[in-house]
Amino acid sequence: MTARFHRRILLGVTGGVAAYKAAELTRLLVKARIDVQVAMTEAACGFVAPATFQALSGKPVLTDLWDPRIPNRMAHIELSRHADALLIAPASADFIAKIAQGTADDLLSTTVAARNCPLLVAPAMNREMWANPANQRNIHKLKTDGVILVGPDVGEQACGEQGEGRLVEPEQLLQAVLALYPPQRLAGRKVVVTAGPTFESIDPVRGITNSSSGKMGYAVAEALRDEGAEVVLVSGPTALNPPAGCTLVSVKSAADMLSAVQAALPGAAFFFAVAAVADYTPQAPAAHKLKKSGEPLTLTLVPTVDILATVARQPNPPFCVGFAAESRDLATYAETKRRTKRVPLIVGNLAQRALGQDDNEIVLFDAGGAHPLPPAPKSVLARQLVDHAIRLEQTQGAP
Ligand code: CTP
Repeated sequence: MTARFHRRILLGVTGGVAAYKAAELTRLLVKARIDVQVAMTEAACGFVAPATFQALSGKPVLTDLWDPRIPNRMAHIELSRHADALLIAPASADFIAKIAQGTADDLLSTTVAARNCPLLVAPAMNREMWANPANQRNIHKLKTDGVILVGPDVGEQACGEQGEGRLVEPEQLLQAVLALYPPQRLAGRKVVVTAGPTFESIDPVRGITNSSSGKMGYAVAEALRDEGAEVVLVSGPTALNPPAGCTLVSVKSAADMLSAVQAALPGAAFFFAVAAVADYTPQAPAAHKLKKSGEPLTLTLVPTVDILATVARQPNPPFCVGFAAESRDLATYAETKRRTKRVPLIVGNLAQRALGQDDNEIVLFDAGGAHPLPPAPKSVLARQLVDHAIRLEQTQGAP
């Protein structure tokens, strides 16, 4: 499994007293910034109400194979395709038998049968049920089918007996889920990213902007999020959906972007300046809509503050990554920007190749020279860039 996507788990809850522990597990998963979609069997709803899971996961709980909210009514396919893994906790003896047999007669069992991702099963049942030869045969089948068994624990059971069959504690289930993913190198670290164009007002209805779509900045924010960073994305106006798991601060002008960056910066370990910030802004935007006069109109533009250079110059700056969008002489201009803005890493790209597109071709410039990356979707390049920046920061520290 890769860290390509925001982490998504389908938590299947089946009937048993231990279903209450799945509520705590949902809370722990959400706290670990894992997107949790809960699906429950009918029997599970007899133990804990779906509303509990809905409140904890922030999403409607799915119980019905024919749920009209799922596009094209293929709930079982939709659910398993959108998850990195399925976790059944608690898994009753009956549900384990269904998995072993390949039975698909309700939403959860159909989703399990249709999965194309890892399946974790956390059994919970009375010790005699656990030891029952039929159950043991089923467990053996699950293991040989590549299902990851988590538990059960030994101890006191809901029925008052002592023995093997208890659901493992929610914290252990969380660890089993986290073990599926590669380690997150930026866990616990804060990162600020700028993205998109800025909009410099000429009058209340007109302004100066550029054709940056924000796609690269948003892809960088997502790649940083997938490394576990706490991401503040300061974005100019774009048509993009806010990336899940990032804090989005929407701004308009270069001056707004500077203020938002300065507010977000304390404690940040990295600053990625991906935005195409206006270099000039109208000196005196008109308070009312300008009227045409038939005469030439002259606008006086004044330079904006260079956000990247400002951040890089401050005492103990975060590790700064800048972008250089050039239309020619990429290597010369990019390397000059790296030195004058005093940043350890500049991403060079040809503006005509990149703006608004889904793909890009970039060259990374650092103290070690130029590192060209092959053309690829921006999401792929963003991950390569983040990987390079993390490794550089580890070896060099902030400049
Ligand atoms: N940048 C910034 N604040 C500005 C202007 C640029 O933070 N006011 C950042 C951009 O986000 C980018 C880098 O500086 O990371 C390079 O921006 P670019 O516009 O390509 O270069 P400039 O330094 O503005 O130079 P020029 O426009 O002359 O190429």
